[in-house]
Amino acid sequence: MKAKLPPLLIIDDERNMRLSLEAAMIDEGYTVKSVDSAEQGLALLEHEAVFMVITDARLSGMSGYVFLEQVRARWPNLPVLIITAYATPRLAVEVIKAGAIDYLAKPFAPEELLHAVARCAERHALLLDNAALRAHVGEVYQLDCIIGEAGVVRDLRQLIQTVAPTNATVLILGESGTGKELIAGALHALSQRHQANYVRINCAAIPETLLESELFGHEKGAFTGALKQKLGRVEEADGGTIFLDEIGDMSRPLQAKLLRFLEDGTFTRVGGNEELKVDVRLIAATNRDIVDAIRRDQFREDLFHRLNVVQFRPPPLRERGDDVLLLANHFLRQFSQAMNKSIQGFSRAAAAQLQAHHWPGNVRELRNVIERAAILENSAEIMPESLPDFQLETRLRKRSDVLPANQSLDELMANYEREIMTTALECNHFSLTRTAEQLKISRHALRYRMQRLNICPETAFEEEPTAASGKDSSR
Ligand SMILES: Nc1ncnc2c1ncn2[C@@H]1O[C@H](COP(=O)(O)OP(=O)(O)OP(=O)(O)O)[C@@H](O)[C@H]1O
Ligand SMILES: [Mg+2]
Repeated sequence: MKAKLPPLLIIDDERNMRLSLEAAMIDEGYTVKSVDSAEQGLALLEHEAVFMVITDARLSGMSGYVFLEQVRARWPNLPVLIITAYATPRLAVEVIKAGAIDYLAKPFAPEELLHAVARCAERHALLLDNAALRAHVGEVYQLDCIIGEAGVVRDLRQLIQTVAPTNATVLILGESGTGKELIAGALHALSQRHQANYVRINCAAIPETLLESELFGHEKGAFTGALKQKLGRVEEADGGTIFLDEIGDMSRPLQAKLLRFLEDGTFTRVGGNEELKVDVRLIAATNRDIVDAIRRDQFREDLFHRLNVVQFRPPPLRERGDDVLLLANHFLRQFSQAMNKSIQGFSRAAAAQLQAHHWPGNVRELRNVIERAAILENSAEIMPESLPDFQLETRLRKRSDVLPANQSLDELMANYEREIMTTALECNHFSLTRTAEQLKISRHALRYRMQRLNICPETAFEEEPTAASGKDSSR
């Protein structure tokens, strides 16, 4: 197993400690790289794959903690283990929260360290297997993965098929968990670029100062810590596709550079003068209200128009009708198979609960709910007891929903009243008489309120004659 593993990186500025760690790991059959500063560690990671890092917390220069932060931002899946001589329980908790895989206080028993390293090695092998499996089944980003029979979802698949083979820039706007990443992946997989790289950058996860160099690369010495020249991700994506996720979070200065890049594919590395050019198709996504961001001057309108050549708007799950159950069954099959259980479906009551829920977290939330239910359920069907308490969640949500910013109580009440009135009118086919009856007010009062709330022009509903008037109402 270890033969397939990339090396492990050790960072310690104390020579003896570094050598004894190295020896211990080599004895166990690991390949080792070691350096004596966090800066060198980061530089090495730029061009070499390692399966984990063991670093001392106190280093001359950049500390192990700052190193951990930087690794989390750049290589979120790389495990980092921190060793320190100055341990306190609180510090331990903070370090784990900051994303370290483990934390060892000096002096520690060698087995403790070996144990932690073995876990990371195992995890690495698993990740590799998973990736190979997915690539093999070829299922990662195919159209079939986008489940749903609602009209909007069918249209969406159709649009993906139409747009994928073109080079059009695509903007995907949708609430969190609606499948934006899935769409972006399918667009690449079905394009003529599918054999070239698909590079995804999450603009919200990378610190603003690093995003530009991540995207466009940097020259050696461009800034402190830029020890080597680094190619940009756009170069990696040359001939393929780059997916800029959470683009609504990109800073304005970088938006300007992206705009220039979009014009003709040219860019310069940070600290460089040479103008470089690549052929990259760009897909961008955000769950932010982009029009609002433009209004607040946080997003450049010209960039929006440049990105918005083709727009995808995956709808929220609550608007997809029966797709909730379709997706629920799909995920249930997946999870019960993976867990070796034979859960056949949902009880009637459980299905009703799923359909009634509002799904603020959309498909991702549904997937998590079904995973949890599959774990908890011991019978042949998912029972309501294995689902979360949606009512409680809905009540919690409602409490925050009724308090939107910048609206007075009068405005909020008027909105609420308007919603009730229009729903009642719709339910009664815009008959004033029946609506007034249902709401237990007079027709006069109904008309008055409608006028006050600006509901429906007169033509939008027909006046009903009363039975006593004897006029023909079949018109
Ligand atoms: N139509 C669908 N069919 C099957 N799975 C879906 C569908 N839509 C979303 N999913 C699944 O739901 C999860 C969330 O989807 P995805 O990550 O694409 O959402 P997103 O819109 O990018 O969310 P965010 O804005 O939070 O990043 C993923 O596990 C994805 O596979
Ligand atoms: Mg996403």
